[in-house]
Amino acid sequence: MIWQRSITIRLTLLFALASTTVLMSVGTIIGLVVEKHFEEMDLVEQRGKLKLVQHALIKTTTQTELTQLPQQLTDALIGHPGLSVIVVGPDHETIYATAGASFPHALLDSASDESADQVEPMLWKQGHHEYSGIAMTVATGINNKLHYTVAIALDIQHRRQFMQLFKETLWVLFTLGIMLSAILGWVAVHQGLSPVRRIALVAQGISASQLDDRLSLDTVPSEVLDLAESFNGMLSRLEASFARLTNFSSDLAHELRAPVSNLMTQSQVALSKTRTADEYRDVLASNLEEFDRLARMISDMLFLAKTDHGLMVPQRDRIDLVNEIQQLIEFYEPLTEESGLSIAISGHGSTLGDHLMIRRALSNLLSNALRHTPRGGKIEAQVRENANGEVSVCIENSGTDIAPEHITHLFDRFYRVDPARQHSGEGVGLGLAITQSIIEAHQGSIAVTSSNGLTRFEITLPNARPERAGTSSV
Ligand SMILES: Nc1ncnc2c1ncn2[C@@H]1O[C@H](COP(=O)(O)OP(=O)(O)OP(=O)(O)O)[C@@H](O)[C@H]1O
Ligand SMILES: [Mg+2]
Repeated sequence: MIWQRSITIRLTLLFALASTTVLMSVGTIIGLVVEKHFEEMDLVEQRGKLKLVQHALIKTTTQTELTQLPQQLTDALIGHPGLSVIVVGPDHETIYATAGASFPHALLDSASDESADQVEPMLWKQGHHEYSGIAMTVATGINNKLHYTVAIALDIQHRRQFMQLFKETLWVLFTLGIMLSAILGWVAVHQGLSPVRRIALVAQGISASQLDDRLSLDTVPSEVLDLAESFNGMLSRLEASFARLTNFSSDLAHELRAPVSNLMTQSQVALSKTRTADEYRDVLASNLEEFDRLARMISDMLFLAKTDHGLMVPQRDRIDLVNEIQQLIEFYEPLTEESGLSIAISGHGSTLGDHLMIRRALSNLLSNALRHTPRGGKIEAQVRENANGEVSVCIENSGTDIAPEHITHLFDRFYRVDPARQHSGEGVGLGLAITQSIIEAHQGSIAVTSSNGLTRFEITLPNARPERAGTSSV
């Protein structure tokens, strides 16, 4: 439904509903108060006239005075249109009656001698007129104290008509008021939502080539500041990811070009003249090296693509990290002996994860350390259980410090500190990127520091209860 989709329509309806409720309540209360006020005024007038007649009857002490009473009352009640009076004698004979209302028996029968201020009005209809009447019994001043019934009626038709008109006018005004507040509400909401429309406008203008557009936070109202900040944050993240993706594609093309052109050159040179079988064998062996490098790069790229898309779901085996590193050290032993390096491992700790993946991450770090430690240098691996339920693995090697400007890029794909070694067959620069994605797939993190001739990679992983502790050295 459109009203559920549009904030403007929804708020406008709410405005209209709120003002309808307020105005209707106020209108009803005003109507009741005014009506009550008129009723009270009418009653005061009726009671006043009742007292007047009562007074005249009490003052009547002789039969002669009683016969003069109608004239007396006519004189006293002159100039009161809509007022009807009846005085009924003890034998139900009418002593005095004005033209107008014909009093119902129920009213006359209900008359008692209570005070004029206490009698309550009775309403009745007669033709097109509506009357309000009160009645009481009054004793005359004549010796035998005869009781007379006096009733006063007031034509309240004009009051009813006035109230009707008053209420109609009130409802017309209120309806106009509700419509006006709905229109003003719509204008206010439309105006108030203009920052959101601005965000939509910026969003519409964004394309892959224009990700540097940002919302100006100075002009944004505080209520949508969070939204605008999140929006800008999203744009920054998108811009960074997009830049990474673009760089990655060009890096990839660049990396693939070198081995392919090597292969082409070597093949062209080999084919330029007739060669001996040994020469062909050499060329093929050299080509194989390049193919090997290409195959490694492609499988690394595939691995990273899978982790990027969350397709690498690590198994949850218990892995004794010291044992794992120990096995890798044994694997690399011929290499360390040749370079005169010493490797030490200490501490204890286990984690839950995928055996092959964790081994690959640790092997990347160890092979890097072996590659960058100068002859006779030292490599130290330390496994430690932290108090916050984590286990950390530090692999530290001696050697030249990595400059701070390189440190932040070490985990980028195809990043190598020394570009001169780029095509020396030493590595494609994907090892640390793979290590990082493996560690992150295991809910861990990796950090690097390099100072005072020591380069240190530290992996933090969720801890699994240790099975054994030990220290050994190679
Ligand atoms: N222990 C270390 N000491 C000094 N520099 C290091 C160390 N580990 C990594 N580096 C630097 O970081 C760069 C990136 O390492 P990474 O493992 O990602 O790539 P690589 O070793 O060059 O290639 P690959 O691992 O894909 O075969 C390396 O080229 C090297 O310059
Ligand atoms: Mg490496």
